[in-house]
Amino acid sequence: MSRPELIKKEIFSIAEYVPGKSIEEIAAGYGLDPGKIIKLGSNENPLGPSPAAVEALCREASKVNLYPSADARELRIALSKYTGLPLSNLVASGPGMDGLLDGLCRLLIEKGDEVIIPTPTFAYYELPARACGGKAVFVPREADYSVVPEKILAAESKRTKLIFLCSPNNPSGNSLSEGKLRQILENTKALVFVDEAYVEFASRNFAALVLEYDNLIIGRTFSKAFGLAGLRLGYGLLPEWLLREYLRVATPFNVSLPAQKAGIAALSDQKHLIKSIELVQKGRVNLINALPFKVYPSEANFVLVDVAPLKSKTVVEALLKKGIIVRSCDSFRAAGDTLIRVTVGTAEQNEKLIEAFKAIKTEFLRS
Ligand SMILES: Cc1ncc(COP(=O)(O)O)c(C=O)c1O
Repeated sequence: MSRPELIKKEIFSIAEYVPGKSIEEIAAGYGLDPGKIIKLGSNENPLGPSPAAVEALCREASKVNLYPSADARELRIALSKYTGLPLSNLVASGPGMDGLLDGLCRLLIEKGDEVIIPTPTFAYYELPARACGGKAVFVPREADYSVVPEKILAAESKRTKLIFLCSPNNPSGNSLSEGKLRQILENTKALVFVDEAYVEFASRNFAALVLEYDNLIIGRTFSKAFGLAGLRLGYGLLPEWLLREYLRVATPFNVSLPAQKAGIAALSDQKHLIKSIELVQKGRVNLINALPFKVYPSEANFVLVDVAPLKSKTVVEALLKKGIIVRSCDSFRAAGDTLIRVTVGTAEQNEKLIEAFKAIKTEFLRS
């Protein structure tokens, strides 16, 4: 028996978050050897986690009968060194940056409040906001996926609490300019959340601006450059006044002991981080030059491919049959039906991907 009358009404209109496909799912669905599948659909690190982080995880495994440090102090000290921001502007979050987004929405959003989301972008922002009774106001990005501050600001109302800006943006890969961010920060009454999930691969970051503006929050993650997506570890850089309020609603102990220790180890493993970043920077140039369709410039660990006149679903399906998982963007709001997001893989994976794309183009566009 179900009791839907007990569920908040807002929940029924929320479209489910669509995650990238897993290796197990594809192996079972297409009768493929899981060991041969290339997963380039979820922007993970193809080099895996830092060996130092794995070592820390093993070391901490026997201690998980104890609760972790509630304020993740040791991790925050390491993050303070990494970001240059004081401890009073730093919060660790689990599960991942998604946990931070969730906590902020619980802190800020009441029924009827609004959040501004420039589309296409990361799909999750809308979900916690709407689950709290908020309304998402979507502002389409330009043809090159940049944002126009005037258009964002024009969408603001008395009820706007949050503006979400993703830099580099998922799925388009472009970064926001500092001038545009300042223009938005200086002309809004709302809080601005800048999602820097992919910032390690980019040419700029906005961490220092947190000390300058009392309405800027930055979200970061260990899921991408640090290769710890399965651990679900993120962090936020935010003004001190907001951190104090945030801690009232954050779930206690939301970063597990292994995650805290692995995070510290990953931050200390510069060698692995640099290797991961260099792999991406080289690989994305290769993909941009060699893929046989239009590819947008990218500052992230993925590239956006426009397969028009083909449909993204057709190409994604054909790639799956060849054992390559990529992400069709048709589930992203305002992304149309010809865009595919491809994670930059190892040199070998990228070569296989390029060959597969070429074969599919020849097969479907023979005429
Ligand atoms: C732009 C962006 N922000 C946030 C996240 C979620 O990060 P986490 O794994 O830390 O929850 C993702 C995950 O893919 C992302 O693409």
